[in-house]
Amino acid sequence: MGFWKSLFTGSDAASTPKPVQMEAIPVDKAGERSSTRIYFSTERDIDLYELEELCDAVGWSRRPLRKVKKAIQYSFLVVSMWEQRGTVKRLIGFSRATSDHAFNATIWDVVVHPDYQRKGLGKALMKQVIKKLRSEDISNITLFADPQVVEFYRGLGFMSDPEGIKGMFWYPD
Ligand SMILES: CC(C)(COP(=O)(O)OP(=O)(O)OC[C@H]1O[C@@H](n2cnc3c(N)ncnc32)[C@H](O)[C@@H]1OP(=O)(O)O)[C@@H](O)C(=O)NCCC(=O)NCCS
Repeated sequence: MGFWKSLFTGSDAASTPKPVQMEAIPVDKAGERSSTRIYFSTERDIDLYELEELCDAVGWSRRPLRKVKKAIQYSFLVVSMWEQRGTVKRLIGFSRATSDHAFNATIWDVVVHPDYQRKGLGKALMKQVIKKLRSEDISNITLFADPQVVEFYRGLGFMSDPEGIKGMFWYPD
């Protein structure tokens, strides 16, 4: 089991109040101890340029920053994931959810920096989001999955077309 996986399994990583933080002193390949930690935050004062850099890294199309700012401001929940090495912190993951504050929430913009993918961090990020939404008594959690990540979400318990329900879209001409 990889280091980050072992960090997020066992005790429930999503049970700590916000900002959720997990301390770790990993031993690197040379056997030296380095102080690195991964932590989650629900703070919204994210540097938009850093977020844009993260989205660029996974090849997403750029969006006007004033709109991204507004989307974050009006989201019900924002969860960002950070790596801290000494005093340097780096945004390595992001997700947000919109909601009617009662029944429904929809998760958007789930992203993990390519350098940190396939280490269990996307799963940990999603668990944080789901845990937080459940703690707000939201029971209907939806998202729109790109085709290549359907299995990632399925592994977290999401179903495609439950009972034949189809997501439908309307776009301007
Ligand atoms: C999708 C994404 C968030 C996954 O993050 P990640 O940190 O690589 O995922 P994890 O390492 O936590 O993977 C959790 C599980 O899902 C699996 N998985 C991860 N990405 C997958 C993919 N693209 N397809 C199928 N399975 C995938 C992993 O193998 C792992 O399985 P396991 O629990 O059986 O070991 C990340 O690949 C990403 O940011 N992609 C680009 C942006 C994107 O497409 N976002 C989704 C928009 S809808």
